[in-house]
Amino acid sequence: MRSSLQQELIASIRNIADYPKPGIMFRDITTLLGNPRAFRRAIDELVHPFAGTKIDKVAGVEARGFILGGAMAHQMSSGFVPIRKKGKLPHDTVRIAYSLEYGIDEMEMHRDAIKPGDKVILVDDLIATGGTAEGAAKLLQQMGADIVAACFIIDLPELGGRKKLEALGVKVLTLIEFE
Ligand code: PRP
Ligand code: ADE
Repeated sequence: MRSSLQQELIASIRNIADYPKPGIMFRDITTLLGNPRAFRRAIDELVHPFAGTKIDKVAGVEARGFILGGAMAHQMSSGFVPIRKKGKLPHDTVRIAYSLEYGIDEMEMHRDAIKPGDKVILVDDLIATGGTAEGAAKLLQQMGADIVAACFIIDLPELGGRKKLEALGVKVLTLIEFE
């Protein structure tokens, strides 16, 4: 049974068939972000499990993870670490290749963005195959991060992404699911 928050979040997301490729049902969070109440409630729910826990950094995955991660980091008085598509970060980076529901790419993080032992929350809008989040988690762990959890608004459980993170020992928290 869905809670009223889950119903509100689901209603605030726009569904676009066959984008960016035929066969993909794109879950568009721009409508959630543009809805002040839904955006506020989503961020409050994402940070809620960490009340009373000192989080050093929120790591957000480009591009939608930046929006959520910036808001979460502000609310938790944590730092923010951008994990970017390749070639965008100006200083020394660590890089990893990954695949996602509709493509392949490479992502990077600044080598000095995380100190060994930092308590980090990884955030993105959605987990589908989990390829993106797995790549991000591997980069963070390579730099010695203690990943407290990986958080997403949306899970597409049929694509099995959660298991990839759990295999790395990362706890996964999601707010809503779409079949
Ligand atoms: C989307 C989404 C996640 C990823 C999830 O990002 O924001 O990062 O796909 O897919 P996966 O679980 O199959 O890896 P996208 O690469 O489209 O980038 P964008 O945020 O820049 O649009
Ligand atoms: N990233 C990967 N799969 C997606 C989907 N179905 N909708 C939005 N973003 C995605």
